[in-house]
Amino acid sequence: MNFNLKSPSSYREWREYFLFRYKILRKPIGLHRSTIRDKLEKISYHVMATNNKGKIIGVGRLHFVNIKESQIRYMAVDKNFRKKGVGNAIVQKLEIHSLNNYRNKIILNARENAVIFYSKLGYVNLGKIDVGIDIKHFQMKKNLKNCPSRSE
Ligand SMILES: CC(C)(COP(=O)(O)OP(=O)(O)OC[C@H]1O[C@@H](n2cnc3c(N)ncnc32)[C@H](O)[C@@H]1OP(=O)(O)O)[C@@H](O)C(=O)NCCC(=O)NCCS
Repeated sequence: MNFNLKSPSSYREWREYFLFRYKILRKPIGLHRSTIRDKLEKISYHVMATNNKGKIIGVGRLHFVNIKESQIRYMAVDKNFRKKGVGNAIVQKLEIHSLNNYRNKIILNARENAVIFYSKLGYVNLGKIDVGIDIKHFQMKKNLKNCPSRSE
């Protein structure tokens, strides 16, 4: 399947990017639109996948936790485009950004339904974690040390 990966840049892209997050990750579980951003947006690395019509079909974000570690948050792919490699491609781009910035460890809190997805990408399940919402989450971790760094 053909899709492009980029960081949102124009006002319109940012608007659609956050709206997409809301549509996939918050609206279905009844959370308010105000929960869609956190305090780290400005210092994070954002990736969105668009199809050949320019429509956003997937998003993901990475921020640095400390000098060695990054965290992935807000991974979401449109229902109609799942299991086609979009999520994998977004995570790979986030991982490359982490490696290129000397953070070779990535942590994330995966919803139960995403644990197999992350396991397939090499993330190890460290066990259940409470993230304050009513969906079971598991903390997962990947050491990128042995992965070759690629250009972004
Ligand atoms: C989790 C999610 C981002 C995966 O995106 P995706 O584009 O479907 O993932 P990919 O197609 O790149 O899948 C990569 C691999 O994981 C597998 N996979 C993906 N989702 C899976 C699932 N729910 N159950 C089992 N395997 C899954 C794919 O089959 C593929 O395996 P393969 O390499 O053997 O073919 C997407 O399902 C999603 O947005 N879910 C709803 C929101 C969500 O829960 N986000 C995560 C919050 S922590």
